Order: sequence, then structure tokens, then C-alpha cells
Amino acid sequence: MPALIVIGSQWGDEGKGKLIDILSSKADFAVRYQGGANAGHTLKVQGEQIIVHLIPSAVFHPQVKCLISGGVVLDLEGLCEEIQSLKKSGKLENDKQLLISDSATLLLDQHKQLDQAREERAEKAKIGTTGKGIGPAYESRASRRALLFSDLFEEDTVLLRKLKEQFKETQYLLKNFYNKEPIPIDQTFEKIKNYREILKAYRCSNMSLLLYQALKQNKKVLFEGAQGALLDLYHGTYPYVTSSSTLAGGVLSACGLAFSPAPKIMAVAKAYSTRVGAGPFPTECPADSFSGRHLQETGQEFGATTGRRRRCGWLDLPALKYAIRLNGAGSLALMKLDVLTGLKEIKVCVAYQIGSKTVEDFPVQLRDLSKVQPVYKSFKAWEEDLSAVQAKEELSALALDYINFISEEVKIPIEIISVGPSRSQTLYLY
Ligand code: IMP
Ligand code: MG
Repeated sequence: MPALIVIGSQWGDEGKGKLIDILSSKADFAVRYQGGANAGHTLKVQGEQIIVHLIPSAVFHPQVKCLISGGVVLDLEGLCEEIQSLKKSGKLENDKQLLISDSATLLLDQHKQLDQAREERAEKAKIGTTGKGIGPAYESRASRRALLFSDLFEEDTVLLRKLKEQFKETQYLLKNFYNKEPIPIDQTFEKIKNYREILKAYRCSNMSLLLYQALKQNKKVLFEGAQGALLDLYHGTYPYVTSSSTLAGGVLSACGLAFSPAPKIMAVAKAYSTRVGAGPFPTECPADSFSGRHLQETGQEFGATTGRRRRCGWLDLPALKYAIRLNGAGSLALMKLDVLTGLKEIKVCVAYQIGSKTVEDFPVQLRDLSKVQPVYKSFKAWEEDLSAVQAKEELSALALDYINFISEEVKIPIEIISVGPSRSQTLYLY
């Protein structure tokens, strides 16, 4: 099976970074295909921890080519900083290890300024975005004003003209609607032209062809999802979503591929749930409850991009089943099982009560979702520390009850269980 898509099946932060790092030992390519620097993928290898935002989580493996596809919104400043800091720590030494599609969308300071101004103005209706300019950059693309990665390498006069055209309206909005002083275009121009020298080595003019040929030659290609199914622009908890297609299907449009044969799709879920930013979260535990505090503190649930405290709650099976269906996932990786050690009880949402009705399907309308009451099944918690467990058989009977129940419910095999951030804290079930 040459292609494997690793996809978040909750609200992001499921642990995709760790999985990609592990799976990369057998890969030829790792591809970031959507989103931007809103993502934060944490990797811990031999005591060294790094967080990547735009570069694929395969950077610890010099033999893997890291690709950024045309579906990504490229924060040039963040990207250059990330490349330089990775190089400092001895990664990405070979420039050929990274390729960036010429058709990726440039995300510039004005996008960030607009994202932040909107959130500031929204007061009660805040989405709780990462403030990284993601929405405005995708808007530029959709309204056909965006500059693409290839535009960065145009002659100075052409680049400056395009920048002025792209941001004419944004500057007006910032100044006259949001009462902000827009960052001058000339300043952006002076800044980004200096990035050419750092980035020119990574240009890829036809990534869809490169991937097509790689897959034809049976090369192993990992597609690294960012965010999660419930943040998908069309199928997530709209409007509390991100601005890209976070589902496996998004790989096709972002990379210009038509999969045949079908890829393998692995859904990633935490053994509980978290969400960062606003929006419905039916199984949320109050932040000051015993379980809420336990999950937040033991799980170290702080946003890797914004440092925000993540909201924490129980595993939500209707939501997980919805994500598995949307993605056509064939297997599941269950992350952070060790975090549940020491709870008094563990709850899993098995259905929702809406008025007098019990439903098992995840409601797609915000109106319905805001009314649901979770129906829980309760499990006895365990006290054993799982962080050194090496095989499924070593798990305590109570932990096994919990994972067996999940795997029966989701009807796909749990292929991987993670019991800690390091590579070695991983159980392979198949
Ligand atoms: P945006 O993607 O910055 O526009 O933010 C939209 C929503 O998606 C907000 O609720 C963010 O907190 C959330 N979000 C975006 N990226 C991530 C991520 O990588 N992990 C978790 N939540 C994210
Ligand atoms: Mg994250």
C-alpha cells in the first residue's frame, strides 16, 4: 500500500505528529497538504522536543522527502524561522529534503492582522482562531487575489505590483472598518523579498506530477493531516471550524491526485477529547472538576501553537464514528491512553439525548448540537502507570476493557496505542 493518510478524527491535537514521526521510518515522502502554521505538531525523540507548524513531522528522518502541497497557506516568516531553527539543530541539512509547491498560497502579515482584528471585534461571537491568518489567506485564494509561492520569485516590480493589488481591499478594511493601522505593503515587500534566498532551493513546480510518479513507482507516501475532522470547513462544527478541508478527501484536491488503488487511511484519536477555541463540545468536563483538571494537567493540554489551555472532556463515540465515516478510515490509532491513569471513573459518550429522543448520529447542525446531552457509559478507572507498557498483553484488565469497548464500537481495528510522547511508548497491535 503506497499511500497512507494519517488524519485527525477529533478537534485536532490528537497526536498526529508523533505518529508521522514513527511511520516515517518506512516512508519515502511525507506531505503536509492543508492548513498552515495554525497546526502545531509536537515531536519528542531521544529527549529532544521540537514543534513543527508547517514542515512535515518527518524531519527527524533525513531519508524522507518533506513536501508542502499547494493546499497549504504558507506563512513565509514562520516558515523561514522554522527552517532556520531546524537547521540549527542539525535537521534539514540537505536542501533536497524539503520541497514546497509553487502553487501554495502566500500568507502574509496583512492576513494575520485581519484575522486578529476580526476576532477582537467579534466579542461574543469569536471563533477562537489561532490568529495566524488562516481564514483570510484562504479567502484570498478563493477570491483569486492570492499570491502563490511562485510569485515570490517574480521580479521586484512585478511582486510589488501584485502585493498592492492583493491587499488593496484588506488595507481599506483594516483602516476604515477595524480602525487598525495597516502594515504598509512596502514594508511587507521589503521583508518577503529577503526570504527568496532561503526558500529558492525548495521550489517544486509540479508536485502533483511528482506525487503521481512516486505512487506509481510504489514509493511510500505519508499524508499528514492537520487539525481534525470536526474542524473541517464543510463537515465540522461550522462556523467553529478552520478554513480548509481537514478530511482524507482533502488530499485529492490539495495534491491534485486521484487515488487508485485507494490509500490506507488511519484515523487518530486521543483516548479522551480536547478542543481549543470556541464551539460546541458536548462531552466537555468543567475545567475545575476533578476529571477536567486531571485531563488538562496530566495530559499537558496546552495549545502547541498558541499556548492556550485546551478544553478537556470524555471520548465522544458519536463524534468519532462520524469522523471515521467521513474519512473512510480503516484503522484507528488511540493516543495518550496513559493520561487516564488515576481518574476515579472514565466516561465514554455512546449516544446523545436531544429532548426525548436518543440519537447515535453526530448532529451536523449547530442548532441541534447545542441541545444535546451526552449519554455516558462509565468504566472503572485503573491505577497502574501505563507509560512503560510495551505490549497490549501488559495492559491492566480495566484498561483492556476500555480499549476493547472502543474498538467494538468504532468497528475498525485499533492498530496503535500510544502511552507517552516518546517513540518507544507505542504499542503495535497488528
Ligand atoms: P484557525 O484555523 O486559526 O482559523 O482557527 C479556527 C479554529 O480551529 C479555532 O478553534 C482553532 O483553535 C482551531 N484550530 C486551528 N488549528 C488547530 C490545531 O492545529 N489544533 C487544534 N485546533 C486548531
Ligand atoms: Mg496541535
